[in-house]
Amino acid sequence: MMGAMAEPVESPCRKADLLPCELPLSDGRVCVLREMVEEDAPGILEFLPLTHAETDFVNYMAGEFDWSLEKERAFLRSRFANPLAISMAAEVDGRIIGLAGAAALEFKRMRHHAEIGLAILKAFWGQGIGRRMMEINIEWGRRAGLRKVYLRVVDYNERARRMYEALGFVEEARLHEDVLRADGGYGNTITMALVYDRDDS
Ligand SMILES: CC(C)(COP(=O)(O)OP(=O)(O)OC[C@H]1O[C@@H](n2cnc3c(N)ncnc32)[C@H](O)[C@@H]1OP(=O)(O)O)[C@@H](O)C(=O)NCCC(=O)NCCS
Repeated sequence: MMGAMAEPVESPCRKADLLPCELPLSDGRVCVLREMVEEDAPGILEFLPLTHAETDFVNYMAGEFDWSLEKERAFLRSRFANPLAISMAAEVDGRIIGLAGAAALEFKRMRHHAEIGLAILKAFWGQGIGRRMMEINIEWGRRAGLRKVYLRVVDYNERARRMYEALGFVEEARLHEDVLRADGGYGNTITMALVYDRDDS
């Protein structure tokens, strides 16, 4: 049933091998992808409410996010120190325009997989930033010895679903009436996963 599974390993250079890196944008600017640090807290508190207001695709609804600077700093500190997590920022002209990351649960029974999340400001969509961040998340999971990475996506987020499928993610389950949409209706969530080195493929 289950293929041979590498024990998740902690390697001090696993994130440094992948980040930072640069991505040229169509307007000549450069997008820098780098690991997030505690000092990013103010930039993230500016970024998140913008992305929550732009689409119906993320967990928070517009205006709902209310973390304090100290809470955000503490979160980033613990993510940075977590060997079973990666958190990256996409930066253009010194401003955070995107976030992505993955984290495994601490339980031994579940630490062989990590959930991925990402969001980019609309003004920067369609330039390959999302795909590159996903590729880094995927490669981090492989190098960290995970068995799989997975994510949750609402079924009306066609753009993201197409990207995940192109990267090899497949649908695992559909959760009906799972999310409250801005229009008051309820939407479905799809869980998608990419399993590393499957022996049944
Ligand atoms: C989903 C998201 C991260 C994609 O980021 P992006 O930087 O625009 O994506 P990319 O430019 O790297 O494009 C990746 C893929 O998206 C799809 N895509 C790009 N432009 C598209 C368009 N106009 N219409 C439909 N799909 C499109 C394609 O499959 C593309 O693959 P390709 O490069 O082989 O053509 C971004 O739209 C976003 O942040 N959305 C809001 C938050 C969100 O939905 N997060 C995911 C929650 S699960």
